[in-house]
Amino acid sequence: MWKMSLFWLILALSAHSVFGVCYFPVEYQGIFATQSSISSISGGSVHQYSQVTILPDAIPVWGVCHKKFDNNVILRDPTGGEDCFRCFHVSLHSGNVIQVYTEGLNKCYSSEEAVLQTCPTIHDIKTKRAREIMLYKSRSFTQDGLIDRVFCPINGRYRFTYDVNDGTESTVECPEPSSELSNCPKGSQLQLRFRRCSFGELDMGLRCLGDWEGHDGQKYLALWDPEVTTDHQPRYRCAMYSVEETTGRVFLSFSIDATCTNHLHSPWDGYESMVLTPVTPPTPPAVVQTTACAFPEWAHGSWQHLQIESNELWLQDAGSDKKYRTLCLSQHAPHGERYALYSQTQCGEEEFTCIWIKKRAVNVIEYQMASYPSDKYNVSRICSDDMFRGQEWITQGRLDPENHAGCPITGEYTGVIPDAKELCARLASDCRDPQHMFYTVSSCFNSTEVYEERDYRCLGQWSEGGVMYTFTHRRDVNIYECFAGVVVSSNEIYIIEAGTSCQRGLQPLAYGMKLVRQATCSEIEARESTPPPPPPSSSIPPWWPQTTKNPWIKKASTTTETPTWNNEIPRAAPSSSSRTTTTTSFRWLMTTTTLLLLLLSSP
Ligand SMILES: *[C@@H]1O[C@H](CO)[C@@H](O)[C@H](O)[C@H]1NC(C)=O
Ligand SMILES: *[C@@H]1O[C@H](CO)[C@@H](O)[C@H](O)[C@H]1NC(C)=O
Repeated sequence: MWKMSLFWLILALSAHSVFGVCYFPVEYQGIFATQSSISSISGGSVHQYSQVTILPDAIPVWGVCHKKFDNNVILRDPTGGEDCFRCFHVSLHSGNVIQVYTEGLNKCYSSEEAVLQTCPTIHDIKTKRAREIMLYKSRSFTQDGLIDRVFCPINGRYRFTYDVNDGTESTVECPEPSSELSNCPKGSQLQLRFRRCSFGELDMGLRCLGDWEGHDGQKYLALWDPEVTTDHQPRYRCAMYSVEETTGRVFLSFSIDATCTNHLHSPWDGYESMVLTPVTPPTPPAVVQTTACAFPEWAHGSWQHLQIESNELWLQDAGSDKKYRTLCLSQHAPHGERYALYSQTQCGEEEFTCIWIKKRAVNVIEYQMASYPSDKYNVSRICSDDMFRGQEWITQGRLDPENHAGCPITGEYTGVIPDAKELCARLASDCRDPQHMFYTVSSCFNSTEVYEERDYRCLGQWSEGGVMYTFTHRRDVNIYECFAGVVVSSNEIYIIEAGTSCQRGLQPLAYGMKLVRQATCSEIEARESTPPPPPPSSSIPPWWPQTTKNPWIKKASTTTETPTWNNEIPRAAPSSSSRTTTTTSFRWLMTTTTLLLLLLSSP
């Protein structure tokens, strides 16, 4: 089935690519709601939304993707007869929230040169001279169409006071801290129970869509109220918040609507404001006071979903939609890699469990959790092998990586996407900075037609059962991906996408993409330094001499020379039993489906 869609994709692309086009990464694509108007009526306001679709190569009505650079994208709107260009500053804050700044949708320019002058600068954004457009995802292009689940940054149980600041009165609506807010039972949803308020009682649930730090240095949070069905209440809300370090109090203020600007000035000053006071969590049982152990130093720090300090470990678990605060109780075999834990969720639920942590590289760890947590601490049972039977490794990258890892390839490699012989891939290390790799997919017939560009930071790699796993961070979309690879020789490697956690059992040699080295870094350097040779047909970005030693080189087992091999590339997952990895494995497939969709929907 997916071969078919690729076939159509190729056909489609070749028919389509007459103009200069660019493509949005799959993470940006989807159907979004945006506020189209808010108007006051007697006794309230009317909130109206319109739909904005981000297709692989266009945002219909706004224009076709013409050029991307930094955070900007220039869209070309051909609808008025003559081409008209607009520039947008686009920030992806989470899988569900995109913040766009532009000079205004009602203006456009007839040339690329003219529109370039209008791309909003950070200064324009800070001084509110650029118009903000918030896009909230309502449907993704995945099979189930669901939006991402995003953990709320406000975590735990609180009591709150509440004040509406609509200029009509000066009373505080809920003056006593008798109202309750928590992200219980779901970590991705805020439950609010207004009690003893001037308007009586009210319960509501808000889903967290994403949080980010704004250009003004403030923390923002986007929320969706799935219960709202009328125009008289906002469906989407933007808030600013601030956590007071010493007391844990949270100051939270909302804008009046779906923008992050209307009547929202600070965490203390908005259309609605709350002060949240944390509720003290249950005291751990006595056994926790009397036993102790410490996590190893190499594990300390912040990881994607883990935070580890001396004897304390925080774990945010997407599967259960819970955040656990745990304390280390005892250390266990094998090799002292398992740690018995007392754990408490953000809602105060307690249990005893065990975590198994493996160091894979300085910036990469993997862990498994015991399958049967218990309400008793049985030191001889809690970390036994039984507890880990059938569990799979979850891979985690360090959020603030040390400058250790290099990428396992150096130089430039090319290959053909399996099942899509018309698409060519190019993987190249950054010869100046061996921690980075660039990956592009382009037409095999015309390398200037680039469909996809990715920028990877390699966090680390390790070898297991003859397969090399490389864990990477994609800075352009802030996601983590693993690749499994086999090095045949210094000139030939096979790689396959292995998901967000490194999936085992994939067979790169059988199902991966073959990449062949076209140039080493020193050849690229020579190519660059020899005075202007007639440029070869392919488009080669500037290369610089490799000044840093690649730490991976030495480890390349017996295969002579230098560089090694490396990682990366998209493929549909073969019919292996993937569990947690489906999202990445199918990313490439998703792109093709959406491209198809685009084709069918546009003439
Ligand atoms: C602890 O677990 C072991 C092994 O399963 C069992 O034999 C023992 O009875 C348990 N101890 C307690 C106090 O439950
Ligand atoms: C390759 O694609 C570019 C941009 O799409 C186009 O301008 C150029 O004419 C194409 N070259 C060939 C040889 O088809």
